[in-house]
This record gives sequence, C-alpha cells and structure tokens, in this order.
Amino acid sequence: MAKTFPYAYIRKKTCKTEKAVIPIQSKVVQYGLGFFSGIRGYWNGDNKNIYLFRMEDHFNRMQESAKIMHMRFPLSYPKFKKIVIDLIKKNKAKGDIYIRPTVYAASTELTPRLNNPDDDLAIYMISLKDYFKSNTGVKVCISSWRRVEDDAISMKAKVTGAYANSALAKTEALLNGYDEPIFLNRDGSVCEASGANIFGIKDGQVYTPPLSANNLNGITRRSIIELFEKELNMKVREENFDRSTLYTFDELFFTGTAAKVAWIASVDQRKIGKGTMGKYTKKVKRIFDEITEMKHDKYSQWLTPVY
Ligand SMILES: Cc1ncc(COP(=O)(O)O)c(C=O)c1O
Repeated sequence: MAKTFPYAYIRKKTCKTEKAVIPIQSKVVQYGLGFFSGIRGYWNGDNKNIYLFRMEDHFNRMQESAKIMHMRFPLSYPKFKKIVIDLIKKNKAKGDIYIRPTVYAASTELTPRLNNPDDDLAIYMISLKDYFKSNTGVKVCISSWRRVEDDAISMKAKVTGAYANSALAKTEALLNGYDEPIFLNRDGSVCEASGANIFGIKDGQVYTPPLSANNLNGITRRSIIELFEKELNMKVREENFDRSTLYTFDELFFTGTAAKVAWIASVDQRKIGKGTMGKYTKKVKRIFDEITEMKHDKYSQWLTPVY
C-alpha cells in the first residue's frame, strides 16, 4: 500500500498534508482547472540517498502545460527544485517515492475561465513501489472510450480535469476484469493507456505512437526511445498503428513514471507473443532499472540527488 507522507506544500508553505486543502468553490474542484506531473524518487541503499528522475524535464513539461492552459507557474527551475527537495527532507523520506506537483486554479470566481491571478503550486508525496504487477504481466483491453482529442483538451498538458477520460476507461477495464485500458483516438489509431505510453516490437522493430496521436509526451517514453537507440542500436519508429496490429505484436509494454517499464501479457484476451516478457522488453527494462539504481554513469545527469 502506498503511504502518504505527513507534510505537503501549498500556498508557498509546507504544512501537514491533511491541512493542504482547497476550497470547494475553487475552479480546480468545480472545473478541473489544473495541471500536474508525477516525479519518481528512487532510493539507493548503498548511497543512502534518493535520486529524482529527470526532474528538470518534469519542470519543463509543467511550464509547457502552463502555457497551453493559460495558467501561472512563475517559478524558475532552481526554485522549484529547492521546494521539492526541501519537502522530501522535511518528510525524512528513505525509500522509493512518488511526488505530485499540481498547479491548480485557486480562483473561486464562478466563471469557468482560465488566466486567473491566483494559480498556486501544491505538492504531496507518497511511497510507491510497483504500479503494475511485474511478474504476471498486464492484462489489457481496448477501451470503448476514445481519447480526448488535442483540439478538445490537450493530453500534452496533463490537465487535471482531462483525467476524467482516463478514469472512465480505467474503471471500465477494471470492472471487466482487466488491469488497464488502451485508448484509440478518433481516427482509430492506438494512443496510450490511462496513465502510461505504449511501445510494441514486431520482427525486431520497435514502434510507438507519435506524439500527434493525442498521448502525453512521456518522460519515460523519451528515455526509452533514447535507450533503444543508444544502447541497443535499434531505431524506434514513431508511427500510428491500429488495433488489429496491436494484437499481432511480438512484445508490448507500457512506460511511465508510475508504470516504469511494464510488460503486457494480453490485449482483449489475445496473448501477446509467448505471453511472457519479451527479450527486447527485458533488455531495455534492465538498462532502465540499472540507470535508476545508479549503475550507469553515462546517464547520471538524469538523476538529481536529494540528500
Ligand atoms: C496519460 C499518461 N500518459 C503517459 C504517462 C507517462 O508519462 P511519464 O513517463 O512522463 O510519467 C502518464 C504518466 O504521467 C500519463 O498520465
């Protein structure tokens, strides 16, 4: 079970997590006006330290969200980093953690509009091990819900309210006995999961839907593309593919901050490959895990120490 840490950050101050509350009238509660990121901190027992994965990339994606959403996030990266690190220290965290910075519309004005003067940054943190079961593989279905299109709400912006779309699909999947849904977009192409990007391998070729498929510009996705290219000498094809192609992949896996690299065992009751973790998935997962365990100097710039 994930444990919530006792301290959070809101209204420019650290406070007890249970006191980090938002008024019922605020636009984030009423209209879902906000955006967020999820950052992992990996505990390293040898160094007795926590390493935050690609912090600055999360910060930059949040700045892009602010721009798309007409919201205020006026912090510099050093200031943001200090706030996050101070909070982790205040919580005396010693283990794997997951940090949720959210910029929310605090305005209590009735009108559902953006560009408010009082947007605020709130952060809470939990302990987090695996999000998906790693031994049996993820059982996936194609959702009957389509992904929100970029010309309705941009999934690039990680908008709080847009996760109602993810929640509908995830709930449907769970009620039908699956672990996770995969969205198609309006034109029938594979998009992503409720909270993770997707990769497929067929005949030794790696594929992932392009960013124009209405998915999130995942930081793990980018990392995996880079690792395939630099470490495994395999070019990743960012291409649209459809539902039936998905069934025929030799290997499929999700990527995400929470998901890490999570292999997919079946889609709509069709076994993927041999129904075990595929060899390329295994290779790239091992490299990714080694990086987060500080065993690859080459990628140490992806990790920010806390202590
Ligand atoms: C909808 C969605 N897609 C993809 C991802 C993976 O993105 P990242 O690797 O940046 O965590 C997430 C998780 O943050 C997500 O919520």
